[in-house]
Amino acid sequence: MSSPRGQFSSKTGFIMAAAGSAVGLGNIWGFPTQTASNGGAAFVLAYLVLAFCLAYPALMAELTLGRHSRSNTVDGLASVASSPLTKFFGRFTGWYGIVVASLILSFYTIIAGWMVAYLIAPAAEMMSLDAAHHWLTEQSNGRNLIFGGLFAGLTMAIIASGVESGIERWSTRLMPALIVLLLLLIIYVLTQEGAAEGLKLYLLPDLSQLTNPDLIVSAMGQAFFSLSLGVGTMMIYGSYLSKDDSLPRLGAIVTTVDVGIAFTAGLLIIPAMFVAQHHGATIYSESGDLLAGPDLIFQVLPVLFESMGAAGPWVAIAFFGLMTIASLTSSISMLEVPVARAVETSQASRPVVTLIIGGIIFAISAVIILNFGSLFGLVVDFTTKYSQPILGILLCIFAGWIMHRDRLLSELKEGHEDIEDSLFWKIWPVYVRFFCPALIVLSFYKSL
Ligand code: PFF
Repeated sequence: MSSPRGQFSSKTGFIMAAAGSAVGLGNIWGFPTQTASNGGAAFVLAYLVLAFCLAYPALMAELTLGRHSRSNTVDGLASVASSPLTKFFGRFTGWYGIVVASLILSFYTIIAGWMVAYLIAPAAEMMSLDAAHHWLTEQSNGRNLIFGGLFAGLTMAIIASGVESGIERWSTRLMPALIVLLLLLIIYVLTQEGAAEGLKLYLLPDLSQLTNPDLIVSAMGQAFFSLSLGVGTMMIYGSYLSKDDSLPRLGAIVTTVDVGIAFTAGLLIIPAMFVAQHHGATIYSESGDLLAGPDLIFQVLPVLFESMGAAGPWVAIAFFGLMTIASLTSSISMLEVPVARAVETSQASRPVVTLIIGGIIFAISAVIILNFGSLFGLVVDFTTKYSQPILGILLCIFAGWIMHRDRLLSELKEGHEDIEDSLFWKIWPVYVRFFCPALIVLSFYKSL
């Protein structure tokens, strides 16, 4: 059978890997643009409350299930169940998570490939390679396949090396680099003309928006995507954690880092839009909303970079380097979900399994690239809008109802001896049973 399971060598290793999974395009791109189009600081406020009151308890369900079962998601969920029906339900949930994680990875790889192309483009510009620069910054199937493939290759190379020397080693190197790049870019942007206007929009709440159900639903979806919930990444990372560490504390640190980086990214992106406007960029759409999505990243921000003269290409490299790093520490966590299952149930070695599964997922990316207009939105909606909330509910049901109560509570006590004195102990076991599934159902219902 399988090779021995990997394990994170330290608490810091786990925090870097789990925060690396959480911090991604969802934080640096998704959160600021959602904030801009949902009433500025009112959205930030709703997001902060939901991240700690809903996403954190759901994250705890995954970490507890994962560390207790010490297995891949399919067999792990079946192992905490006791009847044939709930075991079947466990395997079904595990497989559903594997499919969703793989599909998220397939579209994430495409976007990350654009980031890699834009990371290289400024170098072509500095060398006056105009044709290359043009090719790198224009949409084409060829470019998207090459750079998507390059990014998929990087993701596979890290996962092929295993938990400690792949995931942990690279997350521990890349996360500090991400934070340094983010802070340098913020300092630069906030000293430019126009930045104050962006800061105002970002930080002054329009409290009337807080009663808007769309805002609450968007904030909940964002919190879920951002903490990588539902698909089993956090369950798998939890399964590589030592019994000496306190799960509630580690979960709280990961949530705080994720929320903190999303908030900090807003201090960069929103003011940067207004600085770009100062240099002639259009930042509002025809309907009067702030531009979001690819228009923001690939049209607004380049105006800003061009306005910076000789520094421009370097700042662009720093920005797209930041985006690439954020994407990579997230993409490895998605690939680990199917790879962990295959490594634990087949004779094949981790590198071989990684190559096969990574190859299949990239083939799906290629199909999406070649049918972008009809498939991209479909895959994004199926995975993030419908499947992540459904899976979130299922995992809370597993932790709250199917896993034996004594096993759940004794798992929480591991590495946290005085847990019975904490507020977490008094609230969470009930919360995960009733409130989490109910809140997710409510938000899901609203979003439909
Ligand atoms: N949390 C990542 C982000 O904010 O970009 C996205 C993500 C990673 C979603 C891993 C799902 C996942 F399994």
